[in-house]
Amino acid sequence: MQLEHLTVGLDERSYSIWIGHGILPCLPDALREVAFPRRVAVVSNPRVMGLFGEELIGNLRDAGYGVQPITVPDGEQYKNWQVLQGIYTTLIEQEFDRHCGLIALGGGVIGDMTGFAAATFLRGVPFVQVPTTLLAQVDSSVGGKTAINHELGKNLIGAFYQPRHVHVDVATLRNLDDRDFAAGMAEIIKYGVIRDRDFFQWLRQHREALRRRDPQALIAAVKRSCQIKANIVEIDETEKGQRAILNFGHTFGHAVETLTGYRQYRHGEAVAIGMVVAAAVAHRLSLCSAEDAAALKALLEAFDLPVTPPDFPLQSYLQAMRRDKKMHEGRLRLVLNRGIGDCELRDVFDPADVFGPVLATAPGGPSM
Ligand code: NAD
Ligand code: GLY
Repeated sequence: MQLEHLTVGLDERSYSIWIGHGILPCLPDALREVAFPRRVAVVSNPRVMGLFGEELIGNLRDAGYGVQPITVPDGEQYKNWQVLQGIYTTLIEQEFDRHCGLIALGGGVIGDMTGFAAATFLRGVPFVQVPTTLLAQVDSSVGGKTAINHELGKNLIGAFYQPRHVHVDVATLRNLDDRDFAAGMAEIIKYGVIRDRDFFQWLRQHREALRRRDPQALIAAVKRSCQIKANIVEIDETEKGQRAILNFGHTFGHAVETLTGYRQYRHGEAVAIGMVVAAAVAHRLSLCSAEDAAALKALLEAFDLPVTPPDFPLQSYLQAMRRDKKMHEGRLRLVLNRGIGDCELRDVFDPADVFGPVLATAPGGPSM
């Protein structure tokens, strides 16, 4: 069995990422290596618990762990205070003390919420991420951003809190919905654009294998993505500067999500549109050639990702972007790609000047 190991190097908060195919049964080995508490709660939703819960919990119990399953409803709309409160209530009723740990089994919603529960329960207990969506495997499970949503906005209540271990089994992706799979691919493509031209070319060459969910191709893509994210997090854990490059495509992408009420697009789909718009802006500012911008769009399309902004007035986009967390002292901080494989942060004083011409020429794009 192929098992890849990475480390996120953060001094005493460093942790391992294991990546492989069919490695869920090895979770107890990983927990033993990090001396994880013997009493654990496995937090998941009905769908993921139904797919993997029985086997995972059985393996943990066989290995001597005391396991409390906690099942919360499935969906972004449940990443909220009420559901978090329910997790705390179960932990308190079951008399969990400081010598316990949480295991997040699921996609980014479960991972973010379980991480925040771990950060705050009894002022912090250890937790482990077992991500089961492609997006969670390459992005949300690594780097320690944990959060719940507030009714006034996404991820507004949260903490930086690193897991003790991230356990990625790409075999879990076999049942993943095609759109969720593509949404994860958008984040993988993002890593190539911001940091690694060779990886971008590799993704182009292996797109058919990835679309087939070939295990070797998936392991390689997840590993390189996690490596790039880990390197950035190691430099700037709490997003004082550099980490913001991980938000490439996200400023416009979040505006797309906001304007469509979070119903029409998956996060990764909105990021795909945002990356195309960012590359068009970069091209206008002479940072990116037309060929590189076209290569990005073509690769996103090869994974059936949307690349055209939905039709909203420019002013609506500008207002949505102004409300985003990425505003910095009144200016919009954009991540712009320097071709493929490099990027920079740029503060924009007049977003209308930057986005207006790009959106006006986007085929089927917004009305002015
Ligand atoms: P999700 O967690 O809602 O999962 C998507 C769907 O896939 C759900 O219905 C889930 O039940 C289902 N699912 C999960 N694993 C499955 C499997 N193996 N087979 C079949 N179905 C499966 O969505 P997501 O895209 O994984 O995550 C989105 C969330 O991640 C958002 O809340 C976003 O804010 C957050 N996020 C966090 C970070 C971070 O750094 N912490 C980064 C990116 C996104
Ligand atoms: N997903 C962006 C980050 O972790 O910083």
